[in-house]
Amino acid sequence: MENGPLNFYSGGVSLITGGASGIGLAFGKELARRGCHVILADLQKEVAEKEAKLIEAEGGKASSAFLDVRDSRAFEKLILELKETHGRIDTLFNNAGVVSGWEVKDDPIEDWNYIVDVNIKGVMNGTLACYKVMVEQGFGHIINTASVAGILPAPFVVSYGMTKHAVVGLSVSLRAQASRYGVRVSALCPGFIETPILEGGKYGRVGPKIVEKLKKRPLPLMALAPEALVKKALPQIEKNKGLIVEPLQMKILWWLYRLSPSFVLWLVGKLWKLINKKMNLKP
Ligand SMILES: NC(=O)c1ccc[n+]([C@@H]2O[C@H](COP(=O)([O-])OP(=O)(O)OC[C@H]3O[C@@H](n4cnc5c(N)ncnc54)[C@H](O)[C@@H]3O)[C@@H](O)[C@H]2O)c1
Repeated sequence: MENGPLNFYSGGVSLITGGASGIGLAFGKELARRGCHVILADLQKEVAEKEAKLIEAEGGKASSAFLDVRDSRAFEKLILELKETHGRIDTLFNNAGVVSGWEVKDDPIEDWNYIVDVNIKGVMNGTLACYKVMVEQGFGHIINTASVAGILPAPFVVSYGMTKHAVVGLSVSLRAQASRYGVRVSALCPGFIETPILEGGKYGRVGPKIVEKLKKRPLPLMALAPEALVKKALPQIEKNKGLIVEPLQMKILWWLYRLSPSFVLWLVGKLWKLINKKMNLKP
């Protein structure tokens, strides 16, 4: 069994939820390339398995696990198994997430409960299970994938924005408590990243008509590739930044929001109207 200190790369062990696709997979590949053992945990069991095998075929250390982050017992069981097998957990990427909604007036309550269960309770389940283990071992870093929708108003995805604000809230508050145990907590707040979630996501709940219209990209999103996000985010995670906002245009918007909330609220209100007009969606 190995002991601390925290290893991001060589000798490290990293559990990544939502690791079968998009941002989670990009983190997995990069960490494995740098010598970390990555565990890709996802509802998409076969895809996670296939991706872990591909990482191994390229000389990396990887395994996969079926996990529904909504299941707190399964999450805890997985964490304890990993600790038992590897002797340590260096990083937990609470990254699995879904998107939901468009017009709140059309949203069923089931969709709101569902997004709360995955995006908030999923992060909560992972944190509660892994934080204890990290406190005990005296090191570890929990990286929660929030979103710019967690620090800015997001009228396009109101329920999603609510959940991501909660993830930021959990992260910054726990961060202050965790530091005296040698445990780090960060929230990652990406802007648009080119992944399946932009088209509704495998398990997302965005109406098919909206997804079809969004595919036509009514406004340029200036989306980053997930690999580019990982390259920008990893050095900041290593430096233990609390809130990581990428790319630059989103950092500027966030800065503007803190400077003048009313201006940014006015701006996103205009954007909401413009995008609906471009998509030909009547009120
Ligand atoms: N892509 C973007 O523009 C963007 C921007 C900001 C934040 N994010 C966040 O990044 C994270 C990753 O999303 P992505 O863009 O890579 O999308 P993605 O759809 O490619 O990946 C999400 C993964 O989560 C998995 N998942 C969904 N529900 C799950 C559950 N209950 N249990 C376990 N796994 C589950 C999916 O199977 C999928 O593999 C999400 O939290 C998302 O909200 C994405």
